[in-house]
Amino acid sequence: MQHATRLRGSRWAARGLCCVLAALSALWRPGAACPAACTCAGFRLSCADPERSLTAFPALTEPEMENVTDIYIANQSSFTSINDRDLAFYRNLRNLTVTSTRLTYVSRDAFQNNLKLQYLNLKDNNLSSLSWRVFRHLNISYLMLSGNPLQCSCENMWMKQGRGEEAEAELLCVEEGGKRRSLSTLNLPQCVVPTVILTSQKVSLLEGSNLTVTCKASGTPTPDLKWNISQLVSKYKIVTSGQSSVLSIFHLSSLDNEFKVICSAENIAGESEATLQLDVRFPPTISKLMDAIPDHHWCIPFSVSGNPQPKLSWLCSGKPVEEGEYISTRIHDYSEHEYHGCLQLDSPTHVNNGRYTLQAENVYGKDSKSIFAHFMHDPWNDTTATDPSYYDDTPLGPPQDRVAVYVVVGIAAVTFAGFVLMLVVLKFGRNSKFGIKGFVLFHNVPVEAVGR
Ligand SMILES: *[C@@H]1O[C@H](CO)[C@@H](O)[C@H](O)[C@H]1NC(C)=O
Ligand SMILES: *[C@@H]1O[C@H](CO)[C@@H](O)[C@H](O)[C@H]1NC(C)=O
Ligand SMILES: *[C@@H]1O[C@H](CO)[C@@H](O)[C@H](O)[C@H]1NC(C)=O
Ligand SMILES: *[C@@H]1O[C@H](CO)[C@@H](O)[C@H](O)[C@H]1NC(C)=O
Ligand SMILES: *[C@@H]1O[C@H](CO)[C@@H](O)[C@H](O)[C@H]1NC(C)=O
Ligand SMILES: *[C@@H]1O[C@H](CO)[C@@H](O)[C@H](O)[C@H]1NC(C)=O
Ligand SMILES: *[C@@H]1O[C@H](CO)[C@@H](O)[C@H](O)[C@H]1NC(C)=O
Ligand SMILES: *[C@@H]1O[C@H](CO)[C@@H](O)[C@H](O)[C@H]1NC(C)=O
Repeated sequence: MQHATRLRGSRWAARGLCCVLAALSALWRPGAACPAACTCAGFRLSCADPERSLTAFPALTEPEMENVTDIYIANQSSFTSINDRDLAFYRNLRNLTVTSTRLTYVSRDAFQNNLKLQYLNLKDNNLSSLSWRVFRHLNISYLMLSGNPLQCSCENMWMKQGRGEEAEAELLCVEEGGKRRSLSTLNLPQCVVPTVILTSQKVSLLEGSNLTVTCKASGTPTPDLKWNISQLVSKYKIVTSGQSSVLSIFHLSSLDNEFKVICSAENIAGESEATLQLDVRFPPTISKLMDAIPDHHWCIPFSVSGNPQPKLSWLCSGKPVEEGEYISTRIHDYSEHEYHGCLQLDSPTHVNNGRYTLQAENVYGKDSKSIFAHFMHDPWNDTTATDPSYYDDTPLGPPQDRVAVYVVVGIAAVTFAGFVLMLVVLKFGRNSKFGIKGFVLFHNVPVEAVGR
């Protein structure tokens, strides 16, 4: 009894050890890459051992870094900077904590590849300044900066606005003399976040028109004014003087319809931007009208552009098409400045055959295009298409295919008949004096008669 229990006990112990080992191996990924001060477990990387301090972010294998969403670094007395490439491979990083270290410098491109970064805790470090430009491409929900010797400087003024939790805890800054004060009440006369104003927010113009837009900025120090119009198709010219810039667009192209003209201004304290949306009016153009295609329904596909959206109508062999339950115009999609759709026909017959003309019209003009659509042969005129299932919902195939099927079946039938005939001839021909005559008789006389 005792022996058996002990045995069972040791078996349990062995199983327990196995579990612990398995858990450990899952937690501690093998590989020299994980530094001694850290644990590198799947998505989370944690370095909080004050005895063996880290100087930079761990460089693991690329797929391992790809998997990491959380990095936690604390109590590292040799950790002083976050440089351009340090986090380049941690592309899925969401949470970053670097706290109670000697962090003094964060490069402007430190988070260039960390587009998913949301939560950033940099409390209790040695940061004296941090530019808003470090975060310009990110969507950070929580940013914590308290416990740093932040200077009461223009570069740190953007922190007044507060982000997430930081807004609650008061952020302090250090003045020249070493006095601490609240950042939220700080006012520096030489430091004003820029503002920009565009002459209008939306303009409606006919294609081919000229347009001038003025962008005015304010802010201290004098902000840099920029237009983001590299994707504009129309020709343009920019004249900037001081805090005002004039953009002239010549001979507006219809391809610039819906384009957003962006003017932005930035200085050390922050940035702002204003946008103007172009509404370019132009007459319709039918860029595509194609042969009818059988799908669930029949479809005559088309693509049309025009602003305002053109009204569409159809003619079939010169007569207006009455739209209704069985025939209707459908727009499926608006993309690349065009409306894409179908004239949809439900089970069309020979009555629907004809020359289809699409007419597109708006206040600025019209366009039309035609195509011949052939759905079914006239049953009274053409005998090859009398089969009523010819063009039902699940057609078996085009007429050529059917003819091919008939031919193949015919050949097979003839071959088979020949084969049977040969067997018969061989069987009876061997013990018959009629020889080849048996073959001739075969058509008209019962088989038994042949042998006799
Ligand atoms: C990354 O994560 C996936 C899913 O959690 C896992 O299957 C894979 O082994 C991980 N890759 C590395 C290199 O850790
Ligand atoms: C960092 O060190 C301090 C003091 O040595 C300790 O109280 C704190 O718990 C440590 N933090 C972490 C995350 O280990
Ligand atoms: C990020 O950290 C915060 C605070 O520790 C936590 O609430 C949140 O769940 C974390 N997010 C992720 C994606 O791990
Ligand atoms: C903090 O940063 C300043 C420079 O900004 C440096 O002179 C100082 O030595 C740093 N302090 C620590 C404790 O690293
Ligand atoms: C930014 O993050 C917030 C909340 O995390 C989210 O609601 C918002 O859609 C995000 N914006 C962009 C542009 O990703
Ligand atoms: C647009 O500007 C160009 C160049 O200044 C000029 O030649 C043209 O006549 C203008 N067009 C209109 C419609 O004003
Ligand atoms: C210009 O604006 C587009 C969006 O309209 C944006 O994707 C692009 O990054 C901007 N370019 C610059 C240089 O800001
Ligand atoms: C029969 O079809 C031919 C052309 O395929 C056409 O010219 C002729 O008018 C049609 N006859 C009738 C009665 O529809």
